[in-house]
Amino acid sequence: MNARFDFTGKTLLLTGATGGIGRQIAALFHQSGANIILMDLDAAQLESVRAQLAVRVVAVAGDATASEAIQEALRLGSASFGEGIDFVVPAAGIYPESSILDTGEDLWRKVMSINLDGVYRLLQASIPRMNDGGAIVNFASVAGHRGSKNHGHYAASKGAILALTRSLAHEVGPKLRVNAVSPGTIRTPMVESLVAAKGAAMLSETPLARYGEAAEVASVVAFLCSDAASFMTGEALHVNGGLFMAG
Ligand SMILES: NC(=O)c1ccc[n+]([C@@H]2O[C@H](COP(=O)([O-])OP(=O)(O)OC[C@H]3O[C@@H](n4cnc5c(N)ncnc54)[C@H](O)[C@@H]3O)[C@@H](O)[C@H]2O)c1
Repeated sequence: MNARFDFTGKTLLLTGATGGIGRQIAALFHQSGANIILMDLDAAQLESVRAQLAVRVVAVAGDATASEAIQEALRLGSASFGEGIDFVVPAAGIYPESSILDTGEDLWRKVMSINLDGVYRLLQASIPRMNDGGAIVNFASVAGHRGSKNHGHYAASKGAILALTRSLAHEVGPKLRVNAVSPGTIRTPMVESLVAAKGAAMLSETPLARYGEAAEVASVVAFLCSDAASFMTGEALHVNGGLFMAG
């Protein structure tokens, strides 16, 4: 294994761990030697991911926006792998469809709560436990850069993640690096209905002429956590096949 991508002895805290992208991140980091702390709402799926990885893995089923669940994950992680976390990747997210005019307070709050407030809470709790040289990779989205029709709440939450990523990079450097990934359309359960409704139009605007695979996002997350990205912080990397190109 190339030493830059060897995560042996490092610990990853990952939310949204049973999602399309989360599973691939868990598998890749595990394959690269990392200890993994998994969090997701879906207890049955979480147990199946934990069982597949088998060793160097613990799991907390619960709401990743809840302080108690976050504290439980940190406690279990340090009891199993020792004090200190190296990588934090908050990948939990939701993407409901609703125009701004149709979005009631409850839905607006729910999206903000999971996509933004939960990230703030997770990072605030875990940063004091992170080892020197550690890295955070937040999940933004192409929607956070260019907006998204009928997903204004989601786009607003992801735009805020970009701003949070940059702000945090100022605050936690040089000890830690903080970056974001901005996926385009990646084949996971999250975008099934979007692909069914607008797939052909999106593909015609995508130079690579296909959707992304979750593993193609996981590998960028691993790059951003690795020493290969040692001079990168406060950056957002687009992973979208060219659907959106920003200067
Ligand atoms: N798939 C895409 O095309 C795409 C594009 C841009 C950004 N993203 C972002 O990538 C990340 C991963 O998305 P995905 O495609 O794997 O989605 P997914 O729907 O497959 O997975 C999301 C996971 O988050 C979990 N989750 C939701 N709320 C939670 C909570 N409160 N606590 C704990 N877990 C919770 C779900 O159970 C699910 O396992 C998300 O932040 C998403 O916004 C995805």
